[in-house]
Amino acid sequence: MTLLALDTLAKAFGGVRAVDGVSFDVKAGEVHGLIGPNGAGKTTVINLVSGLLRPDGGKIRLEGLEIQALAPHRITACGIARTFQSIRLFPDLSARDNVLVGRHLLRHPSLLARLLGLPSAAAEQREAEEAAAELLRRVGLGGRQGERGGNLSYGEQRRVEIARALASAPKLLLLDEPTAGMNPVEVEAVAELIRKVASEGHAVLLVEHNVRLVMNVCHRITVLNFGRVIAEGSPAEVGAHPDVVAAYLGHAA
Ligand SMILES: Nc1ncnc2c1ncn2[C@@H]1O[C@H](COP(=O)(O)OP(=O)(O)OP(=O)(O)O)[C@@H](O)[C@H]1O
Ligand SMILES: [Mg+2]
Repeated sequence: MTLLALDTLAKAFGGVRAVDGVSFDVKAGEVHGLIGPNGAGKTTVINLVSGLLRPDGGKIRLEGLEIQALAPHRITACGIARTFQSIRLFPDLSARDNVLVGRHLLRHPSLLARLLGLPSAAAEQREAEEAAAELLRRVGLGGRQGERGGNLSYGEQRRVEIARALASAPKLLLLDEPTAGMNPVEVEAVAELIRKVASEGHAVLLVEHNVRLVMNVCHRITVLNFGRVIAEGSPAEVGAHPDVVAAYLGHAA
């Protein structure tokens, strides 16, 4: 079943056509890879889908509903969550509180009740804290809940970001280079986590430079170059595609 559909999406910055008529579908329960050389337009696609940028043209549909004109918090509420290419944790908050920030995005009323000291708020707060703890266990950080964000390793911080994104219970998770700067053991842990998230019914749109990871975890892959789709298919199909090989070799072929 198609969850997310991009239809001739376009975005230019000045004279640069960062995203130039991109169409592809992401299906529920699948990991969909989005790869391509530096500057291909991958992050711009993520920014368009998450509402950080408005497209110049084209449509973005989630379960058939057009979302390209919605504000980012509305898109979150529709069931899309993301992580960022550069880590955006609060260094002075604990891992658990960093996850709670993601949950509170959807829970303004309970946050307000808590600030006002309403009796129902304490129970809700406990429930939220338990949910955050459970999310941290899911990403393999059950023992690090109280640690300050700034004290976590790079790989741990990226996993807290994934937990925070999952806190809004998204249908679609957008991951922008989740393994950048990780060692091979951390990469394998994230690969396992991505597989698990998809098997639980979430769709994942995975932007990655780590081709081995993409080949290992993705059901389908779309390849961008200069803002356009140059190939799409299974990992085996994409890996054997001459245009993909040429793009990665800098058009040497
Ligand atoms: N806010 C912006 N203002 C101006 N140009 C931008 C902006 N964001 C992206 N670009 C340009 O758009 C193009 C696509 O950039 P984008 O960040 O989407 O690429 P990418 O595929 O994510 O690259 P990388 O693999 O290096 O992260 C590049 O030429 C980039 O310089
Ligand atoms: Mg990018």
